[in-house]
Amino acid sequence: MAFYSLQEIPLVYPSYFPKPVYDFKTNPLKRAKIELGRKLFYDPILSRDHTISCSSCHNSNQAFSHAGNGLSKGIEDGIGDRNSPAIFNLAWQKKFMWDGSVVNIDVQALAPINHPKEMGEDINAVVRKLNKSKEYKTLFYRSFGDSLATTERIMKSLSQFQLTIVSANSKYDKVKQGKAEFTEAEANGYQLFKNNCSSCHTEPLFSNYGFANNGLPINPELKDYGKWNKTMEPEDKLMFKIPSLRNLSYTYPYMHDGRFQTLNEVLEHYEKGIEKSPTLAKELQYPIVFSPKEKENLLAFLRTLNDSVMVSNREYQKIK
Ligand code: HEC
Ligand code: HEC
Repeated sequence: MAFYSLQEIPLVYPSYFPKPVYDFKTNPLKRAKIELGRKLFYDPILSRDHTISCSSCHNSNQAFSHAGNGLSKGIEDGIGDRNSPAIFNLAWQKKFMWDGSVVNIDVQALAPINHPKEMGEDINAVVRKLNKSKEYKTLFYRSFGDSLATTERIMKSLSQFQLTIVSANSKYDKVKQGKAEFTEAEANGYQLFKNNCSSCHTEPLFSNYGFANNGLPINPELKDYGKWNKTMEPEDKLMFKIPSLRNLSYTYPYMHDGRFQTLNEVLEHYEKGIEKSPTLAKELQYPIVFSPKEKENLLAFLRTLNDSVMVSNREYQKIK
């Protein structure tokens, strides 16, 4: 019965997290809507040929990324232009997609549904399909007091489910809560992280969720200039959304095009791969060089950001 409660429920997060930026007043969390969103997230009915669901590219066991896939893979094996980002802590984010082109999570799902290489479907067709389903009629009724599926209701339910995906149970979090201690290597790595990485990958979310050019050379095949693709403003050239460093063990390969398979390659990039250009971040004008020992320590710290509780949380998995 709890599944269908329409009582408003709060988002649960630790005291050291900032206040969420999502306006829950416009879409108050309710168990019935979260469960409807969860059902939709795992349902390939959202794609044209019923083969691809949101979870095809955002797998709960992989912190809702698509580990092992550099570029996203969708309908009819279509290969997209970008790496499927991990999904968690969305309530603290204002801009979505690697280029920030979506500014409201409540409309984000229109993009993958419509994308010819992702789900290849028209949202109006999705609405029609759902309105033919007895099961969905019941679920919409339980969520909205009315059995009609509409675009807005689909979008808001999908948001609700995704907003509840909170990553706050890593070893780092336990240390913050006084329930664990860093090893010496982790503590040393934490210092290196604070001195070199935290201006962009800011605690406790491990991103300030802004945009930066971290000096990746342009990929000659994809010619992806990030924010600039849409705005054409010179200051937006090569500006990409700063990803969180939580859950990196689950979300390889890395960067907007999945170009790096390992974190060692990422550190090598910050050490000797940075390409200068007018928008390069000021913190990255000089190479970040670590000794082998320092690298080990930094990687040990980054591993404390893996949230094994989140990736195995049954509430985030497909409804059985
Ligand atoms: C074929 C793979 C694929 C499918 C299917 C897919 N996505 Fe994505 N998703 C991506 C990629 C790739 C991006 C990044 C797109 C970009 O930057 O242009 C993304 C971005 C996102 C983001 C933004 C994350 C961020 O950090 O900015 C959210 C949220 C999201 N997807 C949710 C969904 C939902 C909900 C569905 C189902 C309706 C879905 N996705 C279906 C590949 C996919
Ligand atoms: C000036 C801001 C900035 C600084 C400083 C910075 N990064 Fe990044 N980082 C970014 C941006 C932007 C991206 C995404 C770039 C892209 O994909 O185009 C990124 C991506 C990453 C990724 C890939 C994550 C993923 O999910 O794909 C890792 C890992 C990473 N950074 C680690 C670090 C570490 C470790 C440091 C410190 C040694 C550091 N970064 C310093 C801005 C920064």
